[in-house]
Amino acid sequence: MADESKDRGLEKGLTSYGDRGFSLFLRKAFIKGAGYTDDALTRPVIGIADTGSAFNPCHGNAPQLLDAVKRGVMLAGGLPVEFPTISIHESFAHPTSMYLRNLMSIDTEEMIRAQPMDAVVLIGGCDKTVPAQLMGAASAGVPCVQLVTGSMLTGSHQGERVGACTDCRRYWGRYRAEEIDADEISRVNDQLVASVGTCSVMGTASTMACIAEALGIALPGSASPPAVTAERIRVAERSGATAVAIARSKLTPDRILTAKAFENALRVLLAIGGSTNGVIHLTAIAGRLGIPLDLARLDAMGRETPVLVDLKPSGKHYMEDLHRAGGLPTLLRELKSLLHLDALVVTGRTLGEELDQAGAPFAQDVVRPLSKPLYPEGGIAVLRGNLAPGGAIIKQSAADAKLMRHEGRAVVFEDAEDLARRIDADDLDVAPDDVLVLKNIGPKGAPGMPEAGYLPIPKKLARRGVKDMVRISDGRMSGTAAGTIVLHVTPESAVGGPLAWVQSGDRIRLDVAARTLELLVSEGELARRRAARPVAEPRAERGYLRLFLDSVTQADQGVDFDFLRKPR
Ligand code: FES
Repeated sequence: MADESKDRGLEKGLTSYGDRGFSLFLRKAFIKGAGYTDDALTRPVIGIADTGSAFNPCHGNAPQLLDAVKRGVMLAGGLPVEFPTISIHESFAHPTSMYLRNLMSIDTEEMIRAQPMDAVVLIGGCDKTVPAQLMGAASAGVPCVQLVTGSMLTGSHQGERVGACTDCRRYWGRYRAEEIDADEISRVNDQLVASVGTCSVMGTASTMACIAEALGIALPGSASPPAVTAERIRVAERSGATAVAIARSKLTPDRILTAKAFENALRVLLAIGGSTNGVIHLTAIAGRLGIPLDLARLDAMGRETPVLVDLKPSGKHYMEDLHRAGGLPTLLRELKSLLHLDALVVTGRTLGEELDQAGAPFAQDVVRPLSKPLYPEGGIAVLRGNLAPGGAIIKQSAADAKLMRHEGRAVVFEDAEDLARRIDADDLDVAPDDVLVLKNIGPKGAPGMPEAGYLPIPKKLARRGVKDMVRISDGRMSGTAAGTIVLHVTPESAVGGPLAWVQSGDRIRLDVAARTLELLVSEGELARRRAARPVAEPRAERGYLRLFLDSVTQADQGVDFDFLRKPR
């Protein structure tokens, strides 16, 4: 009979000295230096991935969460051992947080694999951290629970409720349009982030929190409690106890993160009016398990899954309101007929069993009933056409209805620097019904596919009151942003996708209902442009940038590194 203890607790994954007994002897000697007893060292070891960082205010409550997770682990009879990994904050990562997501996923995967733990609690929150942790944990294959840090509180500016970061963009737009002055924008700046925690709207962090719960890898009801509440701390304690239970039952992530779980998560992404980044991250997580996420399937689901959650940027409320309305279970109850209720949750029960235990619905105005949706289709639509043969997406629930079918003249910016140089020039040749096009902000182009797809309205038009225009790029945009913005154009321009050959003055036609995005230029003319100006793919001499440019995949593959995806 195999000795199971070798694959458990401190005996797991011993350091190689060529003598197993000596390796364990040495490991115990070192950890006893920290004051542990033999009794403690026989317990199931629960790793806790700590992403607290002074550069990451979205994780500012990590110390409290860590304490609570440890308490939960110990109450359940386990031994908690925290360890650090990379932490990434949206505003403190150059050139862009997405450039570092895969690095964080490698860090997470290898630290879970290298260190002896029977299960792991992943404390994440800010946009890229939860995807990175789930990608890494899915590859490592050790039982895991995702614990998000929770949303920040909202603030108040002159009696108006404000929160990061839909209101950040709205007020900045007003400042650019010279509707408010420098003094007022500075006072707004004080109010937008009222506490630690993740952005308070349905941006990428909230989207990923909801997705983690919908996938079943985070506890039921855990997505919505704000960062500074007692409920958030209780979720942390329960996550610790759950980790001990799954360490004992060996409930590995591949049994939770199944094709059915990903379909449930896509439904939720569509129904919450979630961030477009959610599509990329879900594709990347699924790719680690060899599960393909098909954009055509997402679009088909979108046509039968309305937006029900009334949160900014698609609606008007904030995450703390969703929490008061019962959190994600309120939405899941409403979507029940569209979900795979037999999908397994980290508690060991099925999603259907969890919903039966979630309690009765009550009157609230944040999650709409299916019969009265906020938007009749899912928040995200998938576009195709000669400008995006590999697909592009638009957050239709946050776009201007008048621009959903639009043909206009292209005004092209070759890259982010070109945009910054010319967008506010008084002599920029641009009209309100033009289509703004930005190239070279895709996975390889920028690199890292920054959230620069939210092109600002040219100042000369903003001053005239223009609030929205059709904007197209191969980049991403923040989940907190709104507008008629086509993103993730695939293949990207930097690798020679058709976007590379668009010129100012070309006509572009967008038809969201027909799901098409067309460049109205003949094939012959495009071939001539291609031959006249061939694209040289970006390369780097050394370091992480070289790894990134050599290995990163396009948006339809999740922008993961090709060698990290599970071979199918
Ligand atoms: Fe961290 Fe928005 S900046 S969640």
